[in-house]
Amino acid sequence: MKYFFALGHQPKLSLAEIKSVLSPLTDFVIKNISHEVCIIETKEKIDLSLMQKKLGGTIKAGKIIQESHGNKIFFPMLLDTVNKICSNLNNSKIYFGFSLYNLNTKPSDFSAFARQINFLALKLKNKLKSRGLSSRWVSSKKRILSSVIVKKNKLLKNGFELVFLIGSKKVFWGQTLNCQDFRAYEIRDFKRPTRNIERGMIPLRLAKIMLNLADKEKNYSQVILDPFCGFGTILQEAAEMGYTNLIGSDSDKEMVEGAKENLKWFAGFGSKFKANIFQSDVRKISQKIESFSIDLIVTEPYLGPLKIRDWQLEIKKISNLYLVSFKEFKKILKPKGRICIIFPAFLGSNRNLHFLPILKKLKKMGWEIQPFADGIKRGSIIYSRSAQFVRREIFIFTNIKN
Ligand SMILES: C[S@@+](CC[C@H](N)C(=O)[O-])C[C@H]1O[C@@H](n2cnc3c(N)ncnc32)[C@H](O)[C@@H]1O
Repeated sequence: MKYFFALGHQPKLSLAEIKSVLSPLTDFVIKNISHEVCIIETKEKIDLSLMQKKLGGTIKAGKIIQESHGNKIFFPMLLDTVNKICSNLNNSKIYFGFSLYNLNTKPSDFSAFARQINFLALKLKNKLKSRGLSSRWVSSKKRILSSVIVKKNKLLKNGFELVFLIGSKKVFWGQTLNCQDFRAYEIRDFKRPTRNIERGMIPLRLAKIMLNLADKEKNYSQVILDPFCGFGTILQEAAEMGYTNLIGSDSDKEMVEGAKENLKWFAGFGSKFKANIFQSDVRKISQKIESFSIDLIVTEPYLGPLKIRDWQLEIKKISNLYLVSFKEFKKILKPKGRICIIFPAFLGSNRNLHFLPILKKLKKMGWEIQPFADGIKRGSIIYSRSAQFVRREIFIFTNIKN
């Protein structure tokens, strides 16, 4: 079985997340990958709707239905594919759309392919009309239909979206089966009772990706701790994914109250979970949590002030906070327990990134980095959004000795 996954704006993280979610489910091979999409062959059939619900970094997913050569779509081949899809539809009007993804082909070949799409869509519409079938072609100014357009136009229910993944030798044709539920994310993000963007909230999708990366087993009864929980975004997303044992702490009372309020609100949607949230400085957290009782730590700690005059001094201060935190984590995390954590990386005036220089010390303490296959030399992946001065460096650590 071959599937495609349209990757989010941090494609390396999206891919790492897909691999981590697929690993416990089935054997698989990544057949093709670009910065916007990947094709994966699996041994067993996978439940894409369940997968899409769990993934934070995938925008759409579907099955590959055929492959063609050259940069031309022959209309009979398109019609044949559409006939097969439509034989499973029983609504009076067919909604259809096309998206084009670049799978590492030359820009000129890609443009040649893209130029035929409008013509083919109109031809298809006319052909369907000549058979007495009413249809609507859903298009956009962009070559990729967003998940919002796909969902709002009910392409997955009352029609179909065909995606063309254009490689240098082949074009893969896919049918979208699932899209990210952008509305559910909007509600969980903007409707929660307590939020304050200036206090540094982690994006919901990143929280989900980190939870997936931390948890190798996908065992939802494991105990998850966020010791810098802020308003509780990571804990909320953990609950949404089905984790039932959550612990959160923060040194700031206002944050703790906010996190409690947010999780109480989220529980109202029907998720069943226990959340123990309390005030604690991370440097003393082992006094509040039973030794070796935590399975996973997933957290975005304090990343420094928004504006920094002396970043070298800041790096020193934050490095100390991280080193003390990891010492505390040793006392509460189970052996082999895992941590997915964000380090700050500061963008210098020369556009170079300045990292926390603590990796050797952490290794000596018995923390092993689980390097990302597509990561940077330090074993991490950098998450960056346009003009941000502080970049997020994502790491996974395993607790290897005490
Ligand atoms: C980047 S925010 C975490 C945001 C959180 N993930 C969210 O989405 O709401 C970092 C948090 O670390 C907390 N913090 C800073 N220093 C701390 C310390 N020494 N011990 C515990 N928490 C601390 C801050 O109060 C802040 O809430």
